[in-house]
Amino acid sequence: MKFTHEWIEKNVWLLIGLVLLVISFGGLVEIVPLFFQKSTTEPVAGLKPYSPLRLAGRDVYIREGCYGCHSQMIRPFRAETERYGHHSVAGESVYEHPFQWGSKRTGPDLARVGGRYSDEWHRTHLDNPRDVVPESNMPGYPWLARTKLIPGEIMPKMRALKRVGVPYTDEEIALAPQDLVDKTEQDALVAYLQGLGTQIKTRN
Ligand code: HEC
Repeated sequence: MKFTHEWIEKNVWLLIGLVLLVISFGGLVEIVPLFFQKSTTEPVAGLKPYSPLRLAGRDVYIREGCYGCHSQMIRPFRAETERYGHHSVAGESVYEHPFQWGSKRTGPDLARVGGRYSDEWHRTHLDNPRDVVPESNMPGYPWLARTKLIPGEIMPKMRALKRVGVPYTDEEIALAPQDLVDKTEQDALVAYLQGLGTQIKTRN
């Protein structure tokens, strides 16, 4: 049989094979350059790794599953940027392991929530959201204010992050537990929230 397009179309396994080949090639052409582009691999100017307290807060955020209702990714659309601020850029996330972009929004996006409310607002809100937003259906997390952090736990976490490229120095890691002495999980979570998106904050 002559090798024609008709022949490919009538041979379902060959067709499937070739379709997969074309899609994989197309995918690679789109994805591979992102690993090497400056705009996606270099931190934005002024980006600093999380302080020990904020890093501990980030772990509380992940443990409590906040990402199940909150994204941290502002898309470059007017409806989003007018509500939340400058759209998210890849360079803000280079020290995020794992990143918290998400897509589920039962609550608002939190990518730039830092500085929008006072610490006191966050504390009240985390204890019982309905005390500040009566119609809220966010659950309360009152135990965070009663639970102390365990300072020594932060060092192995920072060492692991260092291994995957976050530029912590050995000195910073050694001093880190001091940052967490007598701090509660709520202190850490509030510190984390208050820093979110402030690196290139340009609210309009
Ligand atoms: C079941 C879904 C749900 C979960 C889980 C959840 N939230 Fe929310 N969150 C909401 C909703 C809905 C709102 C909007 C109403 C309000 O402000 O309470 C909100 C609002 C917020 C706000 C205010 C945002 C703004 O711009 O006004 C913050 C901050 C926040 N949540 C943090 C958290 C943190 C931290 C956690 C985890 C400890 C969490 N949320 C877990 C649903 C959720």
